[in-house]
Amino acid sequence: MLNMLKSLIRKIIGEKHDDKLRFLRRFINDPAVGITYAFTNVLHEPDLAKIGTFHKTDKADSNHSFMNLSYLDIYEKYFYELRDKNISILEIGVNDGASLRVWKSYFKHAMIYGIDIDPRCKRLEEKRISIENGSQDDVDFLQNCFGQGTKFDVIIDDGSHINSFTIKSFEYLFNNRLNSGGIYIIEDLGCSYDKLQTNHNIIETWPGMKFNDPTKMYDNNRKDMDVFFLDKIKKLDHLEGNILSIHFWSMFCVIIKA
Ligand SMILES: C[S@@+](CC[C@H](N)C(=O)[O-])C[C@H]1O[C@@H](n2cnc3c(N)ncnc32)[C@H](O)[C@@H]1O
Repeated sequence: MLNMLKSLIRKIIGEKHDDKLRFLRRFINDPAVGITYAFTNVLHEPDLAKIGTFHKTDKADSNHSFMNLSYLDIYEKYFYELRDKNISILEIGVNDGASLRVWKSYFKHAMIYGIDIDPRCKRLEEKRISIENGSQDDVDFLQNCFGQGTKFDVIIDDGSHINSFTIKSFEYLFNNRLNSGGIYIIEDLGCSYDKLQTNHNIIETWPGMKFNDPTKMYDNNRKDMDVFFLDKIKKLDHLEGNILSIHFWSMFCVIIKA
């Protein structure tokens, strides 16, 4: 009887992009997570990892945790002060929109922007979430997305994890689209050592990757990232450039703009 009622409600509310319906849907499917999220939200107690679990982003799961700290546990150290501010957040890599909804829940007054090479991501737009379709290695696209005047306070790269693309996006976005004091996060640096195409056939197996050029071999060479990071560290040591600090954590790094 209860199950019939649940499936009836599920049918009625469907998969609509509405916060209240999303909550109801999650509550029916997993009451424990739903109740925890409700308390977090009502009390507005900052707990990014709980919000992440509610929205089912992998940034809070055990594959993205080290020493019992998930990405989101650590991000909260940087994001806490910003949570009530009127800021703009850009994420490269939208997939099913889970992380964009996490930012929207946590940052009550922020505008959330996502870019993804997969044109299907556009359907995930909702109030305070705007999405554009393009590649993170296309500087013309990065220059024009969301209007040239839009600058961001936080940028997160969770896109292709192809080293050359990661570096190209950083060099453009950090210098031109990130506000002073802004935070730039490069995720999943474990991939930077990996022969992505030879070992994992990422074009076939990773979401959205087939929209990159299928004729290219996207194998990473960690040396490229090492050269990239060493150049930034050298500038820091010589009192040059516009980076205030670089913090390395397990699998990601956080770069703060001066
Ligand atoms: C790991 S998923 C993103 C997950 C999402 N950030 C989350 O945490 O819920 C990676 C996304 O990067 C996108 N992507 C792959 N290559 C890209 C490129 N060249 N430019 C922009 N996005 C790309 C894929 O389409 C995929 O949706």
